[in-house]
Amino acid sequence: MKGKVIGDILVLKNDPDSIEELLNLPEVKRIVKLGRINGKKREPDVEIIVGDNTETIHRENHCFFKLDVAKIMWSKGNTTERQRIAKIVEEGETVVDMFAGIGYFSIPIAVHSNPGKIYSVEINPVSYGYLKENIILNKAEDIIEPILGDCRELAPKGIADRVLMGYIGNTHEFLDAAMEIVKPGGIIHYHESVPDLLRFKRPPERIIGAANGREVEILKKRIIKKYSPGVYHVVIDARIN
Ligand SMILES: C[S@@+](CC[C@H](N)C(=O)[O-])C[C@H]1O[C@@H](n2cnc3c(N)ncnc32)[C@H](O)[C@@H]1O
Repeated sequence: MKGKVIGDILVLKNDPDSIEELLNLPEVKRIVKLGRINGKKREPDVEIIVGDNTETIHRENHCFFKLDVAKIMWSKGNTTERQRIAKIVEEGETVVDMFAGIGYFSIPIAVHSNPGKIYSVEINPVSYGYLKENIILNKAEDIIEPILGDCRELAPKGIADRVLMGYIGNTHEFLDAAMEIVKPGGIIHYHESVPDLLRFKRPPERIIGAANGREVEILKKRIIKKYSPGVYHVVIDARIN
């Protein structure tokens, strides 16, 4: 069986052999099959096999994440990184989460650390809707300020002790914006999907390039997961002085 359990929904990649057997798995009450990802909005084809809708609440590391598995991605491979970031934030820090999604990083930080404020920017209205619900579900209203729109335009500038860039694709194109958001001595967590041979070379080089003469201290380089054959999803922690 190729699939993952998100909340009480088993999300499969292929047709199941025995539905009864799958419904005996712990937590599983509903089953869906995700097909190809189509169109501009990159929403997957979804076939509901058991159940009547695709919204659920997933629990991880004492946090609640409400999401619709047909519309929102949940990456199990990012669990360790979500746990690492949850505990790294120091008391009173101002955090800017440039690609907040449904609160993948913002929620664990609010639950497990004691930041001053988290500004969580999300461009997709569906994800933003769940982000707002998750802030309430996790009682983080006093800590997280959700912002709907493009982080390049709307993220507050010059105030962040920590900037999260938890997005892969053209993340490097947002490094100049991150440099405006981070304050001197602050840390950027920069994600990139990168070919194996360049995995710890290209991302730091891009950070140093975007820093435009500011001093960059590379604090950590870590592989989050294999992204596709020969390509890794990595994160670099960099202090910008
Ligand atoms: C999919 S999440 C990354 C996954 C996550 N790190 C995890 O742990 O599973 C990235 C989010 O960035 C959002 N996004 C993309 N471009 C953006 C932009 N320019 N401004 C704000 N949010 C953006 C996407 O809509 C998406 O919700």
